[in-house]
Order: sequence, then structure tokens, then C-alpha cells
Amino acid sequence: MMKHAQQAAVAENTRMPTPATESAADAHIAPAPRVSIQAFCETVETAAAVQAAGEDRRLGKAHVKIQMGGIAAATEAYRSSPTPNVILIETDSRTDDILVGLDTLAEVCDSGTRVVVLGRVNDVRLYRELTRRGVSEYLMTPVGTIDVVRAICNLFSAPDAKAVGRIIAVVGAKGGVGASTVAHNIAWAIGRDLALESVVADLDLAFGTAGLDYNQDPPQGIADAVFSPDRVDTAFVDRLLSKCTDRLSLLAAPATLDRVYDFGAEAFDTTLDSLRNSIPCIVLDVPHQWTAWSKRILISADHILVVAGPDLANLRNAKNLVDLLRSSRPNDRKPYYCLNQVGVPKRPEIAPADFAKALETDPLAVIPFEPQLFGPAANNGQMIAETSANHKTSEMFRQMAQTLTGRAEMKRPRSSLLSPLLSKLKKRAG
Ligand SMILES: Nc1ncnc2c1ncn2[C@@H]1O[C@H](COP(=O)(O)OP(=O)(O)O)[C@@H](O)[C@H]1O
Ligand SMILES: [Mg+2]
Repeated sequence: MMKHAQQAAVAENTRMPTPATESAADAHIAPAPRVSIQAFCETVETAAAVQAAGEDRRLGKAHVKIQMGGIAAATEAYRSSPTPNVILIETDSRTDDILVGLDTLAEVCDSGTRVVVLGRVNDVRLYRELTRRGVSEYLMTPVGTIDVVRAICNLFSAPDAKAVGRIIAVVGAKGGVGASTVAHNIAWAIGRDLALESVVADLDLAFGTAGLDYNQDPPQGIADAVFSPDRVDTAFVDRLLSKCTDRLSLLAAPATLDRVYDFGAEAFDTTLDSLRNSIPCIVLDVPHQWTAWSKRILISADHILVVAGPDLANLRNAKNLVDLLRSSRPNDRKPYYCLNQVGVPKRPEIAPADFAKALETDPLAVIPFEPQLFGPAANNGQMIAETSANHKTSEMFRQMAQTLTGRAEMKRPRSSLLSPLLSKLKKRAG
């Protein structure tokens, strides 16, 4: 807590602006579990920020209730009712009054409840006293939505936040545009080139091709988890994974039709939560359909990649998807998209620039239509990087993997003022 408070103090002293949304949205924040949160605010600004935080995808499972009246109202409320998992308290007071107020509150607070204080005071003595009283976090007001989201989620994430997996959802704007192919190749690059432990989950239970693409035929897979959610835990899911490479495993689809797959909205929740606990990077191959569960999975992913072909239906669908996801995820970076199968001979196509205009951002990649490259790879159960390691398209998948995992691009060192000198030295040495 001290650390955060000190950062807040520095920010306040130097009048630093609140971080830009894109960079704030990039920092990984693990979702909070099913907890109850009650806020007692003093100002409408803070109440609005907490309200917006409650609507963020990362607090989707949490229950947030907001009241006005600060410490006094909270103390009054908990005299007669049990305390929730988290109490957020805004206070306008000075240090001594805050401490007196919190001591009174403590008398009616259950011991397991975590308290987050939001205040205007920037005072080291206050931070020290709050820490001593077991207050979990102190945020300087005014607070942004994402500050509240982060503060609450951090209360519940393991100290080693790296262990918490990021979910990358890949979905096609139309069927057959190559969304699965792109997802599988990116996941392969994440495991191989970025050396991140990763899992591909094939969510197209009836027709999924991940098993074929990686040349795997595992006896078990995602259906075993989804049809017995009560048994799901890390060890159970671990047994369902089949290993593709050193660092890439597959949660395969059965791709059989003896059952139908009409799932409820939360069908994949326990499986994904459990993957998140143990795997740093999870790539979801989301089939092209619009159901309660597919919508939920896209909205709750850390990053989204929409794969589109260069035609009108793809453009319309990609725009609808991106618009809906943007408005459902106001505190996140907007979804990425890429164009695939571009340049089919004799086919009229919509240009990448027109996509960029409609979607208000450039595509992450424009992947050419190359049947001589993709056809053999698909038929042999291999990735493009395996059949043609040095091909331009392999490099595209590597770069997409970097962006989607938040790894900074490994740029070649630019020629600097020193480089002529260095090359002279080398020549002399040689
Ligand atoms: N850039 C490309 N050039 C040529 N063929 C491609 C390309 N991308 C994908 N394909 C092929 O298109 C077909 C459909 O791909 P798939 O990934 O199953 O699509 P989706 O998951 O969107 O339905 C596959 O046979 C795949 O090999
Ligand atoms: Mg597919």
C-alpha cells in the first residue's frame, strides 16, 4: 500500500496527468472473483467512477453497490448489517478526522472485510496510520475508473501477478476467413518465439480444426471440462491438455456430432478461470457465431483479434463486432483486427485503407491469400513457420504474437551518431 501511496504522492506533487487510456488499458489487470463491494462516496465524481468500474468486464462477477455519505454512513449501515468483502470509503476530511472515523468504523466491521480509502489528503503520516490499521489501499481523489478497477482487482490477485494468464480471443468476421488458422499460427509463435507457456482452446466443439492443424488426436479435450464443470480445477484441466510443442498445449474440440452444443452464457467460465490460474497465455479459437457464451467470452477477453476477409460482408460484420466490443469494454484498448486471404486473383476486394477508415484504426496485419503456402500446411497438420520458417507470412504471425501478448517489438538498433565511428573501429580491428 505504501508503494502505491507514494506513487500517488509523487504524481500529486509533480501534477502529473492521469495516464493515457491506451497505456492504462494495456497494463494487465486480472479479473476479481465473485465478491461483494460496497462504496460510500462523498462526491458524485467518485460515485460515477465507482459506478463505471462496477460495469468493467474485470468486475463482471463482483457485486457493486454505491451509496453516498462517506465514513459516517458506512458506520451507521454496518451497525445493523453484515459487512461485504470490500468497503470503499471516500472521505473529504483531514488526517486526524479520517483516522477517528475509521476507528469507529472498525468497531462494526467484520475482520475479513478489506477497506479501500479514497481521499484528498496527501500525507505520509496518513499512509502510515492507514497501513497500521490494516487498510488495504489508499487512492488519491479524483480517481479514474481504471484506478478503481485496478485497486479492487489487486486485492484478490496473487502476489506473483505473472502467474495470472492473459486471454487472447480470436474470432472471424465471417466463417472461413481463416480465423482458426491465424489463431493457431499466432499461438505457435507465442510458444516458440516468445517462449511463453501457452494453450490454444478450440471452442468450435462440433467442427473445430485445432487438432488437425497441430496434427494431434487427443482422446480428451474441452468437452470433458465443459460438460462436467463441477470437476474442473487446475489438475483436471491439465489432464485434458495435449502437448503440441515445448511450450504450447491444446485443449481440443471433440469435433464429433453425437451431442449438440447448446451452452449457457457461463459454460466456459470455470474452465477459463482454471486455465488462467496456471497458464500465462491462453489463445481462444472462437467460432464465428453470436451466442450468449461467445459474446461473453469476447467481452471478457484481455485482447481480441477479429479476422476479416476483404469483402463487404466482412467489413460490415467486423465493424459491428468492433463497435459492440468497444462500447462493452470502455476501459480497454479497442479490439485488434487483421485482414486475411487478401489478393485472390480476379476477385474485387475492399482495400485495407477502407477497413481502416470504417474501423478507425489500421489492421494489425494484412495477410495475403497464399494457397500454395496454407494448403500444404493445413493438409499436413503443420504451422506456416514449420513449413516455411523464413516466409514473410511467418514473420507476420510472429509480430502479431508480440503485439497481442504486449511484448515490445524487438526493433533492430537504429543507426546512431556513433555507428560510423563503430564501423571504423571494426574495420581497423579487422
Ligand atoms: N492467407 C491464406 N491463404 C490461403 N488460404 C488460407 C489463408 N488463411 C486461411 N486459409 C485457408 O482457409 C481455410 C479456412 O480457414 P479456417 O482457419 O478454418 O477459417 P475459419 O476458422 O475462419 O472458419 C483453411 O483451409 C485454411 O488453410
Ligand atoms: Mg474456425
